[in-house]
Amino acid sequence: MAGRSRSGGGGRGGRKGVGGKTTPSLRQMHTKVKTARGRTNSSTRWLQRQLNDPYVAQARADGYRGRAAYKLLELDDRFHFLKAGIRVVDLGAAPGAWCQVASARIGTAEGGPGLVIGVDILEMENMNGVELMQLDMREPDAPDIIRSAANGPVDLVVSDLAPSTTGHGSTDHIRIVALVEIGLDFALSVLVPGGTFVAKVFKGGAEGEILDLLKANFNTVKHAKPASSRPESAETYVVALDFKG
Ligand SMILES: C[S@@+](CC[C@H](N)C(=O)[O-])C[C@H]1O[C@@H](n2cnc3c(N)ncnc32)[C@H](O)[C@@H]1O
Repeated sequence: MAGRSRSGGGGRGGRKGVGGKTTPSLRQMHTKVKTARGRTNSSTRWLQRQLNDPYVAQARADGYRGRAAYKLLELDDRFHFLKAGIRVVDLGAAPGAWCQVASARIGTAEGGPGLVIGVDILEMENMNGVELMQLDMREPDAPDIIRSAANGPVDLVVSDLAPSTTGHGSTDHIRIVALVEIGLDFALSVLVPGGTFVAKVFKGGAEGEILDLLKANFNTVKHAKPASSRPESAETYVVALDFKG
């Protein structure tokens, strides 16, 4: 079930770009999109937001596959978990912006030591210094498949996993929580003592049993919402440092 690939083309990665700051000139450019026949109101809103989002434009200029790159750059600038030569698994990696950032900061993009494995249910285009795996994390054998590809413990698990939403509040909430749990279970099974887990969570952040589990297994647990995360989005990130092992 795993489609794997290593090396190939890919973006530049590693450039800081806006890094959480937007320039006034970028903010001033506002494009209004007319509702066209055949385009729903929500896709018009999406298009308008894309056209007016300075991080979207910056990602294009910096060669990143998505604006998500700046979220990981900001989190790493604050918590310093992307160290040269470390071993990383990126869950929910498509289209690959976090893999670009990780491989550039760790050094695998330039052929240096370390490991970056990017996992997604969607197929991704190859990139230098990253091993890509097409897997559904909800499948029971997915963790084993990744662990055997990693062939040893890892220093960092990052998860930007996000389900496609149904618009039905409680169903979406269950799906979101399930993916956070899957990411955390996987991290607990593969991290080295002292390792780090970074995950997208929603609403009030990691709560209940997930927060208890994080606090029981990591010496430091913080929440952070990068400036590049849209203010109107319910997403935030949990950064769990110093895995107790
Ligand atoms: C917000 S996007 C990730 C963006 C990515 N961090 C980047 O930098 O390009 C969330 C990803 O989670 C993936 N995803 C959702 N459910 C999944 C599952 N069950 N198994 C694997 N990937 C999943 C989606 O396909 C989507 O690509």
